[in-house]
Amino acid sequence: MSEQPPVKQQGEALENLYHEHRSFPPSAEFAAAAVAQPELYEDAAAAGPEFWARQARDLLSWDEDFTQTLDFSDAPFAKWFVGGKLNASYNALDRHVEQGRGDRVAIYFEGEPGDTRTYTYAQLTEEVKKAANAFESLGVSKGDRVAVYLPMIPEAVITMLACARIGAVHSVVFGGFSADALRSRIDDAEAKLVVTADGSYRRGKPTQLKPAVDESLVRDGHSVQHVLVVKRNGEPVDWTDGRDVWWDDAVATASAEHTPVPHDSEHPLFILYTSGTTGKPKGILHTTGGYLTQTAFTHLATFDLKPETDVYWCTADVGWVTGHSYVTYAPLVNGATQLMYEGTPDTPHQGRWWELVEKYKVSILYTAPTAIRTCMKWGRDIPGKFNLDSIRVLGTVGEPINPEAWMWYRTVIGGNGGKKEIPAPIVDTWWQTETGAHMIAPMPGVTATKPGSAQVPVPGISVDVVDEMGQPVPNGSGGFLVVKEPWPAMLRGIWGDPQRFKDTYWSRFDNMYFAGDGAKKDEDGDIWLLGRVDDVMNVSGHRLSTTEIESALVSHPSVAEAAVVGAVDETTGEAVVAFVILRGSAKDDADIVTTLRNHVGKEIGPIAKPRHILVVPELPKTRSGKIMRRLLKDVAEGREPGDSSTLADNTVMSQIAESLRK
Ligand code: PRX
Repeated sequence: MSEQPPVKQQGEALENLYHEHRSFPPSAEFAAAAVAQPELYEDAAAAGPEFWARQARDLLSWDEDFTQTLDFSDAPFAKWFVGGKLNASYNALDRHVEQGRGDRVAIYFEGEPGDTRTYTYAQLTEEVKKAANAFESLGVSKGDRVAVYLPMIPEAVITMLACARIGAVHSVVFGGFSADALRSRIDDAEAKLVVTADGSYRRGKPTQLKPAVDESLVRDGHSVQHVLVVKRNGEPVDWTDGRDVWWDDAVATASAEHTPVPHDSEHPLFILYTSGTTGKPKGILHTTGGYLTQTAFTHLATFDLKPETDVYWCTADVGWVTGHSYVTYAPLVNGATQLMYEGTPDTPHQGRWWELVEKYKVSILYTAPTAIRTCMKWGRDIPGKFNLDSIRVLGTVGEPINPEAWMWYRTVIGGNGGKKEIPAPIVDTWWQTETGAHMIAPMPGVTATKPGSAQVPVPGISVDVVDEMGQPVPNGSGGFLVVKEPWPAMLRGIWGDPQRFKDTYWSRFDNMYFAGDGAKKDEDGDIWLLGRVDDVMNVSGHRLSTTEIESALVSHPSVAEAAVVGAVDETTGEAVVAFVILRGSAKDDADIVTTLRNHVGKEIGPIAKPRHILVVPELPKTRSGKIMRRLLKDVAEGREPGDSSTLADNTVMSQIAESLRK
């Protein structure tokens, strides 16, 4: 790592401070057997959009072939695989049964209390057919919207696929959201049916969901005709006769015969709301053919999926896009076997995840940096008690992963605590709700991976890092991450608001999609994500990324997690303020602050040294695990923290205030 102070370049959109020299090429054995081979890049570059046409025909079964690969004449609204017809649920289910894979396990489900269920492809197909019949008998038909407010249980996947089967558009609302959040999403999409459960289990206790649905529907003027209720934990529920229906009454008794009808390639598949920094949530719209093509392709290539032998586990909730693309759709379209787990990683003990990896012999694990840092905080002895030898590919998503967390993940999880000679490769996947599928990620059998970098665009995807004028920055410089060509899984707009779609994503740079993220190209041209540009700090005219300073802090052995914000400063414009969580073994002594300031100075340069470092017990995170820096900025600038209603744990801000008073 460089010990040189950073060289300031005039007009640079973001400083490039952190330098990483570690790199891990795939083993010869892994490379030789990998799904994605080096030629894939050349093939994709030479073929242009036809590369995706090939993937669409290879990976999906079409009822009618498409006549045009891409129509971007109405840019930025794209149409992919024009004229093609297919059914997403047929692609995820029936065809596997027809082709003799009916007995393969599709889902191993493990409930938080330890109850288990296994669905083969044949059984899952039957369940989805019944659900489709039940939904139709409740008056749902093609084009209608269905709100899904369910825990991580198989019925969530069954519901989504049953909607896709009949051409209804699902809108999954994360089960941790409030009644108000649910209602605004029901209203925006004018949902006819809500599918929910009595509740779930969390940290060893039953939780409730149905009361929030009831509360959301108290006020008249909504579009909901029925509420379908899965019985998960047996908690008592209020009942509205005529409106509420038990899943077991409607679905369990429905016919197991249901013929999937072909839908247009551009038929809406789902809406998923994502909250921006301002304004009401945006209903991100995805359609069928392009979305399924890119999710299926990336699931095979990025994770090196071998559907016959792998056991794949993505820890994301179905309430997020990761749970849509890489739990419900891609794994099933690819005929994979996957694990689905209902609960938290620390129930009944902090080794639950690793116990599950051992039990199900999970070979591909896909999770978020926040979870990795939490496990790092708990210490390596916990995963060390389990046999993680089955793991052969690791993935991350959702945030930049700090290089030290990456190294921990590699050694402790991918290397089975150091017992494996060659640890499993890690693929850091950059994408968004809006992009639908992986956009930047290493190919595990091709790319020499670097800790902390998502590195290279997926074959067939065109991204760049540009300066304020939209010009590509040279290697070694930072700027704005853009996508330059349409891609199959791209959002098709914002539900009901085409203008907002143009304004939000296409107005900053001409003819380029701007994702809102800062990024840099390193000396090799590899891409590093530097966090949201809204979070960039300006210190004495240097634009510093929160990510780089956070990574420098996490690279110190005493630090498990760090969040950095800029606080107004009379002399420097902004000053760097860091909030850190220490590792279980580290002591909160007076020296730690000086030690960490010097460490940052040494790792990335004196300009980045935090003015203040505050040791805290927790960091404020959204329910999808992203740090809410806005609230920390309030603390750093001495204000009462603003709206914290989207926090996963609403006691965190008072815990922080309490720890700072000490
Ligand atoms: O800032 C980027 C960050 O998450 C944002 C997208 O969030 P969401 O729509 O909730 O989707 C998350 C799951 C795909 C991005 O704009 N992000 C996602 N993956 C990465 C990332 N930042 C850095 N590295 C990643 N691998």
